Amino acid sequence: MSTPALDTVDLGDPATFADHDLDGFWRTLRDTAPMHWNPPVDGRRGFWVLSRYDDIMATYRDNVNFTSQRGNVLVTLLEGGDAGAGRMLAVTDGPRHLELRKILQRVLSPRVLDEVARTVRINTRQWIREAVGSGGCDFAERIASRIPMTTISNLLGVPERDRDYLLSLTKTALSADDEDVDEVDSEMARNEILMYFMDIVEERREAPGDDVISMLIGSAVDGVPLSDEDVVLNCYSLIIGGDETSRLTMIDCVRTLAAHPEQWRRLKRGEVAIETAVDEVLRWASPTMHFGRSVERETELHGVRLRPGDIVTLWHASGNRDERVFARPGEFDLGRTPNKHLAFGYGPHFCVGSYLAKVEIAELLKALRDFTLGFEQTEEALPIRSNFLTGFSTMPVRFTPDHSGLRECG
Ligand code: HEM
Repeated sequence: MSTPALDTVDLGDPATFADHDLDGFWRTLRDTAPMHWNPPVDGRRGFWVLSRYDDIMATYRDNVNFTSQRGNVLVTLLEGGDAGAGRMLAVTDGPRHLELRKILQRVLSPRVLDEVARTVRINTRQWIREAVGSGGCDFAERIASRIPMTTISNLLGVPERDRDYLLSLTKTALSADDEDVDEVDSEMARNEILMYFMDIVEERREAPGDDVISMLIGSAVDGVPLSDEDVVLNCYSLIIGGDETSRLTMIDCVRTLAAHPEQWRRLKRGEVAIETAVDEVLRWASPTMHFGRSVERETELHGVRLRPGDIVTLWHASGNRDERVFARPGEFDLGRTPNKHLAFGYGPHFCVGSYLAKVEIAELLKALRDFTLGFEQTEEALPIRSNFLTGFSTMPVRFTPDHSGLRECG
């Protein structure tokens, strides 16, 4: 694929990402147009595009001049707002955001997640063992779809029988695994998730458990208990935030390791620390290509006056490849340090699920290292269609078992 001319790229259109290799486009923006204007298309508003790491960090940090309350991704920003504004953590700002964040941080802290992390480890090792034993599989379906959904469902106390249903909804809600899925289908899926949690919240009010939903029901912000809607919106946030991003990262991890045997050998021989490798997997995958903000107060960036209501988008897809910050950014290097990537954002809205996501990716890497000698991709993978997420919905692989590893490691 060739690098498209700047004025022909519409970053609002999901097809752009399927049809173009944008590496050259991003490099050109970083070098020559760090404050790029994506013009209006077909009645849709235009928006600013930030591609440099430092600009992205500075904007994430600045929740005085920029707000998340009118949406934090293109879909909602372009619609003019998010229905969860002021109630769902990611699209709430100010003191309420701080209070709500404290509640979610408590349930997603390393100490509280100890037991959850143990279950992630047991499940991941069992599923990888089984997949290796059967020779090969669609890694996306058999493993990557199960790890995050099982984990977040366990946290929320979602019954096992409902998990496949929720998985199909989360796949439709944000990205399209299927070309026939359009924005109307995605919106219906998002509404269905909300209705599903409405029912669960009602049940938990009657019969509380020791899950996150029951904990949210018992929580208050500024002395006022969270309403059913508040609880539902934050469950939605957790299931959407916790499932698809981690799933796409794991799929990308396997694809990239299969394509970089020298990096795989470093991992296999124990030459790189797992935590270091996890960060490079995240930088490389950058599953959320962008987040965005609305301008709250008039401000200036690169000599451009930004007016209240303007939309500014922050592209991890570019910032995580910024040669001003990362040496050889186009090289996948599992031993890369330092590696202060932007995959989890930055500042007041930095991902609250980052520890959990890292645990999931680390356990995947360990299980692959222990149970396989290597693996190869056997067919083309299917890219998803989205202007927000990037990755693949299938990943057919064949494993070479490590028989001594399978014997020795439980
Ligand atoms: C926020 C990425 C996993 C829940 C964010 C943000 C990013 C991000 C970039 C910042 C959004 C913004 O500034 O507007 C990722 C990636 C993940 C991941 C790449 C996996 C590889 C998770 C998991 C959970 C989660 C596992 C839940 C268990 C959230 C929530 C927020 C958030 C609730 C909002 C935080 C706030 O506004 O204070 N995530 N995330 N994420 N993430 Fe994640």
